[in-house]
Amino acid sequence: MKVIAFNGSARKNGNTAILLDVVLDELKKEGIETELYQLAGKKIRGCLACYKCAQNKDRSCSMKDDALNECIAKMIESDGIILGSPTYFTDVTTEMKALIDRSGLVTRANGDLLRRKVGAAVVAVRRAGSIHAFDTLNHFFFISQMIVPGSNYWNVGIGRNIGEVEKDEEGLRTMKILGENMAWLLKKLHARS
Ligand SMILES: Cc1cc2nc3c(=O)[nH]c(=O)nc-3n(C[C@H](O)[C@H](O)[C@H](O)COP(=O)(O)O)c2cc1C
Repeated sequence: MKVIAFNGSARKNGNTAILLDVVLDELKKEGIETELYQLAGKKIRGCLACYKCAQNKDRSCSMKDDALNECIAKMIESDGIILGSPTYFTDVTTEMKALIDRSGLVTRANGDLLRRKVGAAVVAVRRAGSIHAFDTLNHFFFISQMIVPGSNYWNVGIGRNIGEVEKDEEGLRTMKILGENMAWLLKKLHARS
């Protein structure tokens, strides 16, 4: 089993990455393979609305000159997908929104390729807007027919400068429990009956 986590932050080793690592560590403890994919520094643009994905049905976006098709391939090969983003103006980052729009359209146009995979959202925030960003990420999972485990709070960690989220004990605990629940769910879904 494999879980791919996408970090939409412009800062590779920032608060979102720290939170994602806590979730991934719990998955690793349960023997699940993990990968952290950084959108930072990657060229990734928004959807052109060309709808070529619906015509071609080749599991890829018609724009071949950026990182998006690599991301889609990683989603398709994985059993679980985590989308992590800092809060930017009370929503996800531009790069994360581009990932959502383009991978969402391509996978739906090809017969709901993410159906029944497990999805989880992770958000870093300084002060306000995290739940709006959390909702944006979860919209992707639900329209993709994915299954979403919870934690004991919404999956948010608080901090502004890099590393500040380490002081948010409750946020870290939320991520740990999220990782435990995601691993539990993946094992149930993939158990041989
Ligand atoms: C362009 C920009 C917009 C931001 N907007 C918000 C916001 O709306 N609300 C908030 O609480 N923090 C906001 N922040 C702060 C970040 O969410 C916060 O620093 C977060 O921990 C960054 O995560 P990272 O280290 O993974 O990049 C913003 C930061 C930037 C750079």
